Amino acid sequence: MLKHLIQISDLTRVQIESMIERAQMFEKTPFPKNLHISGNQPVGALLFYENSTRTRVSFELAAYALSLKTINLDIHTSSSKKDESILDTIRTLGAMGCGYFVIRHSESGILAKITDALGEQFSFINAGDGQHAHPTQGLLDMLTLYQQKKSFDSLKVGILGDSIRSRVAKSDIAALQCLGCRDIRLIGPEAWLLPEMPGVTRHTDDTALEELDVIITLRVQKERMTHVDPQVLDNYIQQFQLNSERLKQAKPNVIVMHPGPINRGVEITSEVADGSQSMILKQVRNGVLIRMAVWEKIAKN
Ligand code: NCD
Repeated sequence: MLKHLIQISDLTRVQIESMIERAQMFEKTPFPKNLHISGNQPVGALLFYENSTRTRVSFELAAYALSLKTINLDIHTSSSKKDESILDTIRTLGAMGCGYFVIRHSESGILAKITDALGEQFSFINAGDGQHAHPTQGLLDMLTLYQQKKSFDSLKVGILGDSIRSRVAKSDIAALQCLGCRDIRLIGPEAWLLPEMPGVTRHTDDTALEELDVIITLRVQKERMTHVDPQVLDNYIQQFQLNSERLKQAKPNVIVMHPGPINRGVEITSEVADGSQSMILKQVRNGVLIRMAVWEKIAKN
């Protein structure tokens, strides 16, 4: 049973492992019958104040597979455009029977504030808050890694690119460390790397790709940069873009991951993104399975 999922540190290792296991069970039984969810659950509300394709649709498909009803508020035509606060929007939907809220928002930390205010009455799932956290992406990435590599402790994982602005990088690091991974390398230009933290090394040249088992490529998040200098972008492409040549520096059986959306020809070439080592579409599929496991934990009777 889980009341909220705001960040990976809300979960224990055992809970993460049980969701990975449950997601794999759902892969075999896409529309399971023996659920711990009854038909009389409150409705789930999807509130996406920021753009999304994968995350929103997979939460919706996952709920559908579990026979959990959801509504999808179109923020652009909702009363938030008449300056209704997010708390009032939640209270309003709550009064109509919504009990679970999946929220994506551009403000880092907003899910914690919402949970402080309304967490007794409703359950909240973070679908990405600013540059802070994206726990379900972290979980689906761990599911993908587990399926391919079967264990975490001896893995060498590179996180390539714009980690400082990435909520995915932060959630992946937290999840990898919780599952016992000890070699995590941030790779990219100095100004784009997350600051020093225990158990994570920082590298400003691509030789750190050597011996990697996994490369998690990040989108260059132009919308989060105050100014996009074409020269900086060009340098990034020259020095770090994941192309076939660079991929050869890693282990022969390295897998390539990317949370999407991908910018072809920027952080990754089409050849690599569509190549046999790419897990990108597998991650998308796993997004539905892991969100089924998350919904089940939250909505369990
Ligand atoms: C990510 C996000 O929005 O945080 N995408 C996703 O959820 N699959 C990563 C990104 O936008 O770069």
